[in-house]
Parts: sequence; C-alpha cells; structure tokens
Amino acid sequence: MGVGMQKGLFITFEGADGCGKTTQIELLNKYLLNKGYETLLTREPGAKGLGVKLREILLNYDGEVSPNCESFLFLADRAQHVDCIIKPALKEGKIILCDRHTDSTVAYQGYGRGLDLDKIHLLNNYATSGLKPDLTIVFDVDVETSMQRVGKEKDRMESAGVEFFNKVRNGYLEISKQEPNRVKVINSSDTIENIHKQVVELVEKL
Ligand code: TYD
Repeated sequence: MGVGMQKGLFITFEGADGCGKTTQIELLNKYLLNKGYETLLTREPGAKGLGVKLREILLNYDGEVSPNCESFLFLADRAQHVDCIIKPALKEGKIILCDRHTDSTVAYQGYGRGLDLDKIHLLNNYATSGLKPDLTIVFDVDVETSMQRVGKEKDRMESAGVEFFNKVRNGYLEISKQEPNRVKVINSSDTIENIHKQVVELVEKL
C-alpha cells in the first residue's frame, strides 16, 4: 500500500494496445457496483481536464516527439491525475480502477523506446509522490492478436510497429517477474467471460 491515510483501493490495468483491458475494466466495474462498492473508473493518459489536452498531444501530434519529451508528457499527466483525481478518491474510500499507470511508462518508454529504466522509476516515483497500486493486472496478448484488434486506424503510439510491441510485451512480463506480489498476469487470449472470472478472483483477494 502506498502513502498513508488511504482508505480505498487502487487497482491498475496494463497491457499492450488491443489486449482487451478496457472491456475487462468495465465488466469489473459493473461487478463491484452490483456488490455496493463505490468505484472510480479512470485512465491515463487523459482522465479529464488538463489531462485530456495532454492526451490529445500524446496520441495525435504528428510532428517529431523526442522519447524524453514523450515520457515527460505522460508523467505530467500522471502527476496531475494522482494529485487531483486519484488521491482525493482514495481518501473517500473508493475503489479506483485505472486504465494504465506507471507500468505503461516502464513498458512503453523504458522497454519499448529504450530509455533508462532507473530514471523512469525515479520519475514515476516523483510523479506519484510514491503512491503505488495495491494490485496491477497485466493482460498478456501476443502481438499479432493485439495488432489485429487495433485495426487499421492507428494513433501515434499504435503506429510504432511490431518490434516495438514485442518489446512492450516483454517489458510487462519483466515487470511482473520483478514485482510478483503486486503485478499479476492474465492470458488475454481466453474468452471474455473466463478472463473476467480471473480478474474477479484477484480482486476478491484484496
Ligand atoms: P489508449 O488509447 O488509452 O490505449 P489503450 O486503449 O490501448 O489503453 O492510448 C494510450 C497509449 O499511450 C497507448 O498506446 C499506450 C501509451 N502510453 C505510453 O506509451 N506511456 C504511458 O505512460 C501511458 C500511460 C500510455
């Protein structure tokens, strides 16, 4: 658990583009609401407000973006998200379901773009003031499936190519090996129903 005074739960969902996590987050949200829990469904980049503007740049800007600049923009969005949205909701005792967070920067900018992992950890820690998810679920999917699901209309990040996405996938698997208590991997080639069951099982343990 992260920084003190926290009452709620902070759960993050990770995986390559097209891994099916958005569907699973929505299913889990319905499940928790049915059980009477208060939840907050949110995402990075671009939950709301300023974040939406940063998301627009990150996904659609069509000029040159240096890998360092890209990292700082994701981190700027994260700092705003943690301070203005996540922490207040945790204090209110909500269960936060967050579509992407710190591990995306490790997997995409670190393993994918090849930036220094120690630096990324340091910057992530700075952006979150040390807040850590209680649970992170990684949806693992092979790159062909993920590319098929993304389809032809790709945003800036999705256009990075097969080699990049292999590195991202491998990055997530490395992260799960390094922090096995926090990070759980689910094979995303199973049916939606079966994956949902596994997600619920992991969350019930909390
Ligand atoms: P999004 O449309 O949210 O992707 P998805 O629906 O697959 O989650 O776009 C977010 C994109 O930004 C996605 O390609 C992953 C990338 N990303 C990073 O590269 N670094 C980060 O720190 C974050 C949060 C996202």
